[in-house]
Amino acid sequence: MFSLDFIVTVVAIVLSGTILQHVLLSAATDEPPFIKGPVPFLGSALAFARDPQPLLRNLQQKYGRIFTVYVAGQRMTFLWDPIFGNRQAWNNTSCLSLGLFTQYIVQSLFGFTKSVVADLEFLDQLAKKVIAVLSSKPLLADIIKTLQATYLSLVDDNSRYANCDEEVINLYEYCRHNVYYSSARALFGPGFPFEKIYQPYIRFEDHITKFLKLYPRFLNKEGYNARQEVLDELGSFFADPHRVSQSSVLVRSLYDIFMASTHKSSADFAGYFFAIIFASKSNSVPAAFWVLANIVADAGLKAEIERIIATHYDPESDEFEWTALMEDPLIMSCFKETLRLNTNILSGRLVTHDLTLKVANQSEDDSKNVRLREGSTILMPLDMLHWNPEVYPDPMKWIGKRFLDENKGVLIRNADKWRSYAPWGGGGHICPGRHLAVYEAVIQLVYTLARFDVEPIEDLPAPIIGDRYGAGMLKPERGYHVKFTRRKAPLMSVV
Ligand code: HEM
Ligand SMILES: *[C@@H]1O[C@H](CO)[C@@H](O)[C@H](O)[C@H]1NC(C)=O
Ligand SMILES: *[C@@H]1O[C@H](CO)[C@@H](O)[C@H](O)[C@H]1NC(C)=O
Ligand SMILES: *[C@@H]1O[C@H](CO)[C@@H](O)[C@H](O)[C@H]1NC(C)=O
Repeated sequence: MFSLDFIVTVVAIVLSGTILQHVLLSAATDEPPFIKGPVPFLGSALAFARDPQPLLRNLQQKYGRIFTVYVAGQRMTFLWDPIFGNRQAWNNTSCLSLGLFTQYIVQSLFGFTKSVVADLEFLDQLAKKVIAVLSSKPLLADIIKTLQATYLSLVDDNSRYANCDEEVINLYEYCRHNVYYSSARALFGPGFPFEKIYQPYIRFEDHITKFLKLYPRFLNKEGYNARQEVLDELGSFFADPHRVSQSSVLVRSLYDIFMASTHKSSADFAGYFFAIIFASKSNSVPAAFWVLANIVADAGLKAEIERIIATHYDPESDEFEWTALMEDPLIMSCFKETLRLNTNILSGRLVTHDLTLKVANQSEDDSKNVRLREGSTILMPLDMLHWNPEVYPDPMKWIGKRFLDENKGVLIRNADKWRSYAPWGGGGHICPGRHLAVYEAVIQLVYTLARFDVEPIEDLPAPIIGDRYGAGMLKPERGYHVKFTRRKAPLMSVV
């Protein structure tokens, strides 16, 4: 959710003034390997800002599972240890704070008001409410019902795609529109100003690197204007109790917490809910796209999935058996593999008290205790876990069946013992939207393949990383064009 590259860019700028100080810097032997690199590092810092991933790879190869990079007065420790280290870090909320880590960025990126940002207790109360609602089965079921009904209305009669006949469409645009629309409708109700928010929101995401790199406003006018449009619309939404009253229990109960506090200006609401929309949509939209696109690109796999979908359709009730579909091993394997390959998130924390982490090097019997300093930050890039060839052979390849039981020990090593799969983070801040996100992807997969014949006409686009490293689920470098035809006979009779 948060990029390191903004920190690094700032650093590149400030770095020149810190050389003298660098000479005096060091790390004790119980601390992680320390890369201070004064002048030489300036060169790599710029490369880092352009494309952090290759540089991190090099450091990882040289220093192993944990190392500290010194940038602009900040100690940034990178950690990727599936055996002990990551688990301990995610669990230790008494020494590691997510709230303090994100305090600065939520203001500069989402426009949180100063009063909300400063009130950590209030933010904690909101976070707890999000967890409580989204982990309650009946409350979540309510949201999912609206999600399904809305998605179905899009494919059946309420979008420009409903009656395609051998039309070439961009599957990424299709997914982005449909997932965003159905999800917004499910969370914010019929009063959500989708038409006014959707395009500016996309423009905001397109400019996200400029925000993360802290470009001044005049160099990122379009980004700031787009953000302001979204904030204004969200502000007026929350100023209208009637529209709020039609929204989901999640939004209504968060609204109640705001109304019972001292933070009730339109701007207070807008910044916070912008962040919620971002946390959810910047990840679940591309995730749902990649699941569908990877399946569509593989004719054999697509046929298997279509058979599964047809099997779980009940003509009596004209409904799908969602529970069975959500538990289907092949569908779940495709989803998990998508998150493994395309999650582009850095889980970050501020160290609030010195702490010691046990970090493994190669195996359980080969570990040491490493001390982190109060005031430093710790960053856990999930791709370093997910693209590790020792755990996932051929790690950059999407293999839909990788997570099937039969491939345990073959396409995934040490699956039961290690925490090498962590697309939702872990511990107290594990993603509260994870159940919802799986539903979003499966609902789209099922309704799309059930209603349309989707035929690929070009190769899958590659995901872009580059300077968007850490900014959320990877997006495709270009659209993905497919031939789209509404089925004349139901899928169930075709397969
Ligand atoms: C495929 C989709 C998604 C992925 C991969 C994902 C991933 C993550 C991860 C890794 C974190 C933890 C960040 C950290 O440890 O620093 C997180 C946090 C969060 N996610 Fe998600 N997420 C997804 C979808 C959603 C959805 C649909 C929602 C809906 C509300 C959501 C809401 C949140 C919130 C509110 C947090 C912050 C939790 C806290 O402050 O404790 N996410 N997400
Ligand atoms: C982390 O916390 C969870 C739940 O509190 C616990 O089950 C787990 O064993 C802990 N893991 C570690 C490595 O401390
Ligand atoms: C967090 O770290 C501190 C300091 O190393 C340690 O005393 C404490 O037990 C840890 N807490 C958890 C939950 O691991
Ligand atoms: C970790 O393991 C590698 C390879 O076995 C070794 O070269 C390196 O010295 C080890 N590092 C530590 C800190 O033990």
